[in-house]
Amino acid sequence: MVSSSSPQQKILVTGGAGFIGTHTVVQLLHDGFHVSIIDNFDNSCMEAVDRVREVVGPHLSKNLQFTQGDLRNKDDLEEIFSKTKFDAVIHFAGLKAVGESVANPRRYFDFNLVGTINLYQAMAKYNVKKMVFSSSATVYGQPQKIPCVEDFDLQAMNPYGRTKLFLEEIARDIQKAEPEWKIILLRYFNPVGAHESGKLGEDPRGIPNNLMPYIQQVAVGRLPELNVYGHDYPTRDGSAIRDYIHVMDLADGHIAALRKLFTTENIGCTAYNLGTGRGTSVLEMVTAFEKASGKKIPVKLCPRRPGDATEVYASTEKAEKELSWKAKYGVEEMCRGQWNWAKNNPWGYSGKP
Ligand code: UD1
Repeated sequence: MVSSSSPQQKILVTGGAGFIGTHTVVQLLHDGFHVSIIDNFDNSCMEAVDRVREVVGPHLSKNLQFTQGDLRNKDDLEEIFSKTKFDAVIHFAGLKAVGESVANPRRYFDFNLVGTINLYQAMAKYNVKKMVFSSSATVYGQPQKIPCVEDFDLQAMNPYGRTKLFLEEIARDIQKAEPEWKIILLRYFNPVGAHESGKLGEDPRGIPNNLMPYIQQVAVGRLPELNVYGHDYPTRDGSAIRDYIHVMDLADGHIAALRKLFTTENIGCTAYNLGTGRGTSVLEMVTAFEKASGKKIPVKLCPRRPGDATEVYASTEKAEKELSWKAKYGVEEMCRGQWNWAKNNPWGYSGKP
């Protein structure tokens, strides 16, 4: 874990009750930061914030504030920025379901674009000009080459991906016009796993879109079988390959990015991949999860999912060199963590079907 913060540094974390948000807030608190979360609970809940407090204990919980609020509402932003002088913002809040974004693009433009633009306006007004932004490997589209390197041409494949791409462009434009801004764009690959306590993890509403939450729900008996989308890809076992990264590694990547913002002049607006640099196939992930859980995951081989790439993984060189950050965990730890969370919380935070 990186530990060079001044205890006084105050960080606003938007979407801090979500999957990556909760894990990052725990690491921030352990590292001595003061944290304010703003979250609208669109895809999260108060119990997640309570669990963060439980995990860090009463002493560090004193450094955590929570506001239920929505970035689309300027009054909510005004209230939070007028109360506290923040040193930086980590901006997770946003929607991320590809299919939903195709069906309802206005919702995505509203939550992701309007929310973020309002956030920049409030930051400018209160002179908070350091930002860590949640981008995604989705901005590489169908990568022509792998591993994905940060200076590749970018491309969006759907409205969700377009919001991430637009928001990267918006960040670059703001920083170009006002060079005092420092913005780090973190391009996440496939975040999975859970906090080792088994108290925090991913808890999507409805039927999961992503692979690991789906596998997890099959393992606890909520869903009957996993549909494997594509078994005729030109890969070692015919299923598609992704770069899965442990959420705790991702959380530490945010601390490394913050430290970079606080210690480096002239970083401008820079993108970093957060991945492991290793590819794992869907079927390999199933086998690893079966091993970690001792549960059989029935699979049904299905046609490819439209828009899916064959093989995506990160080049990790830039983050290693410039952020001094490198993922520590492998697929085995990711699956073990995921199962520990699932077996303790088969119905997620609510505990109810
Ligand atoms: C997806 C999004 C990406 C987004 C990320 C957010 C697409 C095309 N991409 O990434 O833009 O940033 O989620 O977390 O949707 N799979 C199955 N069965 C399932 C679910 C998934 O076989 O029930 C397969 C997929 O076909 C894919 C792999 O598992 O090959 C990973 O899928 P997923 O977890 O949805 O992540 P991405 O598609 O990589």
